[in-house]
Amino acid sequence: MNRSLYLIRRSSSVCQLAHLQARKLYSPITMAQLSTDAVAHASAVTGNSDQKTTTWHGAGAAEFDLRSDTMTKPTPSMLEAICQTTLLDDVFNEDPVTNELQGYVAEITKHEASLLVLSGTMGNQVAIRSHLAQPPHSVLCDHRSHIICYEAGGVSAWTGATVSPVIPQNGVHLTLEDIKKHAVLSDNIHYCPTKLISLENTLDGMVMPLAEARRIVEWAHANDIKVHLDGARLWEAVVAGAGTLPEYTSIFDSVSLCFSKGLGAPIGSIIVGSEEFIKKARWFRKSIGGGARQTGVIAAAARVALTETFGTDPRGQTGKLAATHEKAKRVADLWTSRGGKLQCPLHTNMVWLDLEASGVGPNDLAEIGQQKGLRLLGGRVVVHYQVSDEAIARLEQVFDAALKGDFKRSEDTSKPYGSK
Ligand SMILES: Cc1ncc(COP(=O)(O)O)c(C=O)c1O
Repeated sequence: MNRSLYLIRRSSSVCQLAHLQARKLYSPITMAQLSTDAVAHASAVTGNSDQKTTTWHGAGAAEFDLRSDTMTKPTPSMLEAICQTTLLDDVFNEDPVTNELQGYVAEITKHEASLLVLSGTMGNQVAIRSHLAQPPHSVLCDHRSHIICYEAGGVSAWTGATVSPVIPQNGVHLTLEDIKKHAVLSDNIHYCPTKLISLENTLDGMVMPLAEARRIVEWAHANDIKVHLDGARLWEAVVAGAGTLPEYTSIFDSVSLCFSKGLGAPIGSIIVGSEEFIKKARWFRKSIGGGARQTGVIAAAARVALTETFGTDPRGQTGKLAATHEKAKRVADLWTSRGGKLQCPLHTNMVWLDLEASGVGPNDLAEIGQQKGLRLLGGRVVVHYQVSDEAIARLEQVFDAALKGDFKRSEDTSKPYGSK
């Protein structure tokens, strides 16, 4: 029996093997090779009818789920990495696999240090809290950004800061001109001085160009303002050719990056910054209950997601994301070639359909999609690497039905969560 199948099928043996592996020094190269082998073996295994498959095989429901790129399913190679991980205590900084991941991410982002966190929200909140001292102060961000719209008011709650949402004049991304117009530099006691700018890239799947990000950071630093980047999906901007990963990450005071969006890990995000910043962040992470113990299980799967889905080069061209951008283009073409309108330009893996302008009700796609075995949400279609060609073929049928106008238009106008 091949080794990967053995690992997947025999859970008691898995534990024994993991225990043995944990005593060896962890090697990322060995891990990457094993991961690739595991994928190949697992695919071979699924085709063999006399072998029992497990829930880890195949993309499962993720194949037909276009609601978000968080809807991916962890893979057998992640399971294998989890089986081989080290299981020491990360609150004590002792877990080798976690430390290796943190060291690797710091290196590829050209920052001094990094810190594993449990979610993108935790990464942003811990980073923002670590940058700020005490009121009066304010955080400036795009009005659509995750930190203001979808993090349960965390910034104000944890920091006492006023959050200033800015509408970008070009409708796509903030520019230095937008920021200068809204930043508070004076010590007029009526206002809260801007102490942090929080940018997001990609935002709703759209890219902030590197040159604009540089202009903003240079100006901010000249005015004693820190800049954080919510880079939950920065991978996508990089793969779209906007700049290399380190070109983007190195200019910011801190960046949060997610492993569990397009990269497909089951859990985990990471923040990067200076040694001093990460030391502080570790403190704040602990204070909100984010100091986890045997984080090797999280870090191991995250490392596989990074290596296999983003790739090992700074432009992400050896991974799987470029193909998702191609599929997203196909989705947009299928929609517009039938007369549908788009709400936002398509830069990466998110297609924003303008339902209103296309004469389609807010839940029509979700309802028709359900009949075709597809999960859809409002007018946003998100392609992740496990979405299959069959899913796109079904989506074409959904678009046909919705745009022909013979589907009874749904009336529900409630805003579904999930613009992210
Ligand atoms: C841009 C962005 N930042 C942060 C987050 C938060 O990530 P999490 O859901 O892991 O808390 C999301 C979630 O989708 C996001 O889209």
